[in-house]
Amino acid sequence: MSSFETKVQEALANPHNQGEIPNADGVGTVGSPECGDMLRMWLKFTEKDGKRVIDRASFQAFGCQTAIAVASMATELLRGKTAAEAKDLTVQELTGGLGPLPPMKIHCGQLVEGALRNALENDAAGTPGKVDALPANQAPTLAASLHRKPAGTVRIVPLD
Ligand code: FES
Repeated sequence: MSSFETKVQEALANPHNQGEIPNADGVGTVGSPECGDMLRMWLKFTEKDGKRVIDRASFQAFGCQTAIAVASMATELLRGKTAAEAKDLTVQELTGGLGPLPPMKIHCGQLVEGALRNALENDAAGTPGKVDALPANQAPTLAASLHRKPAGTVRIVPLD
């Protein structure tokens, strides 16, 4: 097993930040056109030292092991970042301690990046505490997303 695969297995043994954040400020859902996997991310902001920063990030995934491991790492390292700092993070930075993604796994990281960007876009323009419900286009749970008609519910983000 490669060092990357070993780290993914370690991350999966104790995944962080799984599940919904009630009253999240931003929620983002993406589906991968490459493999059909889906991931949703929740962001909750707080004020710290005069800056609005991410207090908690969490996720739910119907995805491969790599996507789950990256989401676990990413939701840890997002804590304390401003929205602008979070937006600037590259896929390879979001992988944290997993190290660089192998070429075959880059789209798994892009699923996490897409959910993060979607959540930042849905963050009600950075107004803390103003969003206490999912945007109209989001089903209440990721499982519910799968049972809705694709159009207008599951946001497909083009992955370059
Ligand atoms: Fe689909 Fe990894 S194979 S996200």
